[in-house]
Amino acid sequence: MTLETTFFNHTFANPFMNASGVHCMTTTELVELEQSNAGAFITKSCTLNERAGNPEPRYFDVPLGSINSMGLPNRGFDYYLDYALNYEKQQTQPLFFSIAGMSAAENLEMLTMIEKSDFQGITELNLSCPNVPGKPQLAYDFEATEDLLQQVFARFTKPLGIKLPPYFDLAHFDQMAEILNQFPLTYVNSINSIGNGLYIDTQKEAVVIKPKEGFGGLGGEYVKPTALANVRAFYTRLKPEIKIIGTGGIRNGQDAFEHLLCGATMLQIGTELHKEGPKIFDRITKELEQIMTEKGYRTIDEFRGKLKTI
Ligand code: SIN
Repeated sequence: MTLETTFFNHTFANPFMNASGVHCMTTTELVELEQSNAGAFITKSCTLNERAGNPEPRYFDVPLGSINSMGLPNRGFDYYLDYALNYEKQQTQPLFFSIAGMSAAENLEMLTMIEKSDFQGITELNLSCPNVPGKPQLAYDFEATEDLLQQVFARFTKPLGIKLPPYFDLAHFDQMAEILNQFPLTYVNSINSIGNGLYIDTQKEAVVIKPKEGFGGLGGEYVKPTALANVRAFYTRLKPEIKIIGTGGIRNGQDAFEHLLCGATMLQIGTELHKEGPKIFDRITKELEQIMTEKGYRTIDEFRGKLKTI
């Protein structure tokens, strides 16, 4: 029995990765992911220049998950590209490189630099950060998303995926899938956090994070049904060449199994990685293996996408 997963012409030992933003801001954290049992890993979404992000406290663990408004703190594009190029001198396994420019022009500038560089891995264009004051999540603007992707693919020829926010309406799944199917995307990553939730400390009668008067993206157990719906909706609407990375509410082997059943190929872990650290990859691979053994599956391909309806 094996968890091996083929994605972008490469076979990874298992489908598990960090979600961008968790345990991937510094090279120290990235090296810890390299040394962990994660099948693959991704860098923190970066901007052209280093950003301090939003004021603290900006991440808070809550009983059913997490709320955050980090505001894209990162060390800047060059820091992550240098790391990536160095990594590629020593490793053959593809690295995922996440970018989240503050504007279409900034995204295009970073993509042009990646295109011209020796980077051989997979780029993720994050169109869904809910935490930058004054900047709505681009992927909720369908026209702007289509326009950006047209400009992107006019100049970018390397493998590219996009990170999407959750959608909540079947008409929106249809519209977004119709746009995405026009492009040679390697993958769609569904979902980013559910934007702009509000968690309240009842005793203090106060919010728990400082930015945006306490509004922040929700992750963890809260978001799993929404994440599964988005994975399923895109798996059943996108052309088969566009793979799905399932992100949202993966805490254990059962959550992972459900994402795979909905059609995900790779799986990203955010909130639970933040809580447990990289050793989560040891636990969760064992739990998924145990479920597959109990069900008599030898490979993930035997059940991927095969969710039954009634
Ligand atoms: C953040 O830095 O605010 C989180 C990134 C994201 O949600 O895309």
